[in-house]
Amino acid sequence: MNVYDSNRIADVLKPLGYSLTENAEDADMMVLNTCHIREKATEKVFSDLGRLKPHKEKREDQTGERVIMAVAGCVAQAEGKIITQRAPYVDLVFGPQTYHQLPEMVAKLTGERQQKRLVNTDFPVEEKFDFLPEETTHQGASAFLSIQEGCDKFCTFCVVPYTRGAEYSRNVKQIYDEALRLVDAGARDITLLGQNVNAFHGEGPDGKIWGLARLMEKLSDIEGLERIRYMTSHPRDMDYDLIRAHGELPKVMPFLHLPVQSGSDRILEAMNRKHSRDLYFDIIERLKKQRPDIALSSDFIVGFPGETEQDFEDTMDLVRRVGYSVCYSFKYSARPGTPGAAMQNLVREDVKTERLIRLQDLLQSQQIAFNQKMIGQTTSVLFDRKGREDGQIHGRTPYMQAVHVKGNDRLIGEIIPVKITEATLSSLTGEIETSETILSKDNQAA
Ligand code: 5AD
Ligand code: SF4
Repeated sequence: MNVYDSNRIADVLKPLGYSLTENAEDADMMVLNTCHIREKATEKVFSDLGRLKPHKEKREDQTGERVIMAVAGCVAQAEGKIITQRAPYVDLVFGPQTYHQLPEMVAKLTGERQQKRLVNTDFPVEEKFDFLPEETTHQGASAFLSIQEGCDKFCTFCVVPYTRGAEYSRNVKQIYDEALRLVDAGARDITLLGQNVNAFHGEGPDGKIWGLARLMEKLSDIEGLERIRYMTSHPRDMDYDLIRAHGELPKVMPFLHLPVQSGSDRILEAMNRKHSRDLYFDIIERLKKQRPDIALSSDFIVGFPGETEQDFEDTMDLVRRVGYSVCYSFKYSARPGTPGAAMQNLVREDVKTERLIRLQDLLQSQQIAFNQKMIGQTTSVLFDRKGREDGQIHGRTPYMQAVHVKGNDRLIGEIIPVKITEATLSSLTGEIETSETILSKDNQAA
């Protein structure tokens, strides 16, 4: 989501004369788009600000013009005041719901009667998506498209309902038009984004409310769009239509990130997840009936307040039963303002660390096994950029695995069969199966 928002921030700034630079030394404006989800991400903001400060000062000395240092995103939303106290050289603070107002904000900070500092963390009544310019920042063959924002679920560990605000869905026409433009600009794979994306309920062209399944069916019409994904989902919103869409819409990829957070019913309840582990198993079973080749991914939190050894073992058991392709796991960190932050019965830091290591060992062994299963198979790969080495290109399988092959840059943007030859924890290596290589192998075999 932050990658998507950063691109849109660049789109808003372009008409004001700004363009993207790779070098902090050349920047007339620096925007740190921040994440507040865990404490570690938040702390990083302050170290990054310290690192960028000398660049701002040097450039201001050189040019005699103000270099705007901005903090955007959810840390800005949650900690606007604290940022200006801890880093008084920050000129601008704005939350994720106000970046369409950047032209006014920048005008106030530049020119004759410039304001010393501006903090804009409102939840404006107008919808930012109605005011954003069309996207001009090129996303390439794999693109993000934000369809939903915010969350009304209030899991007790999570800051999202406070930083991103209430659940909101864009309308179908706006989304469809953006998808068309993305495909025109070369996108073949689109990931529909939202903090609670499967809660999507946008207004359709018929004036009725459409769910995510109906939206994906509509997007499936778009010629040139070959792959559709969505992220991040909540088990409670995996409704019948959506599960069925996995079987009926071939463009919907057989890969789903469906965070469960914990395998213990007691902890799920304390987290206010509003579902049991059995409901999660049931959803997966029904998904597999629709799409037997579906691979699953999840997020896990270890050491939530009150988590016992048995609760943790329940998580390990859930992981063994589901078998994931890739997962993200974190030690619980108390976030200011959430109900979790007031809970007693905290789990000791060393216990959290030890559990995280055990969980990650198990998840890694599943990930490596999943990748190794691909060896010898031919799978379709969407090439999206050059590889690290010369003559190498990088792509993604339907399961989002990174693949490196020897190949010409001309193939970027194409979906091509690749025979997988090697697999590591984080990527695959393969060879392009052209009609010639297939033919020559057939000949050899003959
Ligand atoms: N502590 C640890 N992990 C968290 N996440 C969200 N809030 C917290 C927290 N307070 C994790 C969840 C979520 C992912 C994006 O971040 O696993 O799915
Ligand atoms: Fe946070 Fe997701 Fe729970 Fe919403 S559903 S509160 S975004 S973890």
